[in-house]
Amino acid sequence: MEKFVINGGKPLHGEVTISGAKNAALAIIPAAILSEDICIIENLPTSISDVNYMMKTLRQIGAGVRLINNSTVEIDARHINSYIISHEITKHLRASYYFIGALLGRFGKAKVAMPGGCYLGPRPIDQHIKGFELLGANISIEDNAIVEATSEKLTGSPIYLDMVSVGATVNIMLAAVKASGLTVIENAAKEPHIVDLANFLNSMGADVRGAGTDVIKIRGVPQLHGCTYSIIPDQIEAGTYMVAAAASYGDVLVKNVIPKHLESISNKLIECGAIVEEYDDAVRVMLSRKPARCNIKTMPHPGFPTDMQPQMAVLLAIAEGTSIITESIWSNRFRYTEQLNRMGASISVDGQLAVVQGVETLKGAPVRADDLRAGAAMIIAGIAAKGTTEIEDIVHIDRGYEYVVEKFSAIGADIRRVYYPDSDALDTVG
Ligand code: EPU
Repeated sequence: MEKFVINGGKPLHGEVTISGAKNAALAIIPAAILSEDICIIENLPTSISDVNYMMKTLRQIGAGVRLINNSTVEIDARHINSYIISHEITKHLRASYYFIGALLGRFGKAKVAMPGGCYLGPRPIDQHIKGFELLGANISIEDNAIVEATSEKLTGSPIYLDMVSVGATVNIMLAAVKASGLTVIENAAKEPHIVDLANFLNSMGADVRGAGTDVIKIRGVPQLHGCTYSIIPDQIEAGTYMVAAAASYGDVLVKNVIPKHLESISNKLIECGAIVEEYDDAVRVMLSRKPARCNIKTMPHPGFPTDMQPQMAVLLAIAEGTSIITESIWSNRFRYTEQLNRMGASISVDGQLAVVQGVETLKGAPVRADDLRAGAAMIIAGIAAKGTTEIEDIVHIDRGYEYVVEKFSAIGADIRRVYYPDSDALDTVG
């Protein structure tokens, strides 16, 4: 087993380069099977485990996957021979359900085990199913565990989403690009990764318009072709380093970003007293005094992203005064506050609200990464805290942050990955 050991209390200084966006990659990898051709995907975060599982899934169904370099992969979707994806693969990550839309689009059928992923509260897929059914697919769910989708012919349709869902928007786009006629998704998600997926599909010859607004129009095309495409930078990885810079009273240039995607995060950092300088493809974040309090409400894009909520809570935990965080996307995304309180934070949670009373400083402690972004928050807390923090369950962090030890070390953090024996495994010896 592995954990991170962090000796905190040192300001971060220097430059960090952001990788390709995880959540765009997780949509674009399955999208590549919609063409019977070869796609080259650049700026792909190939070292994170979520992307690795998606590439394993491609291989499982017969696609060729070749690593050209650390961030470029060739996907050869010409000889895919299966529309079935087992629980062994899907249990590892949520986005495996994008193969339902992609396989439906490619073969008119898909049999995919229900997905795993971070536990952030119930994660129903009713809107995905509603979309597939409106496109003409028959959906059955065996034993609450395997989704089977079949269709003689997918036909475009108006689809109104009852709530803004990234996953449902992606899955419906994947199923609709080769359906006959026009699909109109209303109340669609507007996240940067939705726009990236649309751009990728259009590079393959699809006709997708309006991505980035809440109405996406997809005119089905009979065939798609291969392409070379570069994934956008990761908004949340960038935001994580920006908040870490501020929480450590540091000065960090975060490179390879799209500053427009970071506006909601930059604005909150500025409200907290940080200086945020924007360049063409970089942002510099500096904070030299105790952060000011501010309130946060998570919202679909362009609102403040829920995936930055735990990280931002660390900054508010050491701010002057009391801040209120309202989580409006997930019903169970405050579990990490228990861990932060072990480090001396003063956060009380009431349903979807967290009241964060700023304390003078955090103190190192043994903590756990409850999920991916909770884990990122623990790293920031460990860097900001006085003393040593040990973070267990870092497998969650490895799902979404590339070279996290190397990147944080390069800007001055004292962070190590340490191997330790699994106590359960030891118990079984002899
Ligand atoms: N929802 C439904 N029914 C559905 C779909 C969603 O009720 O059919 C609800 C969800 O329960 C939730 C809300 O709608 O309350 C929004 O869910 P959404 O579908 O937008 O989330 P997702 O697609 O499962 C993606 C990201 C998450 C991110 C959310 C919100 C990926 C692979 N995951 O999840 O990212 O939190 O959008 O922005 O893109 C992460 O990267 O750490 C992460 C959890």
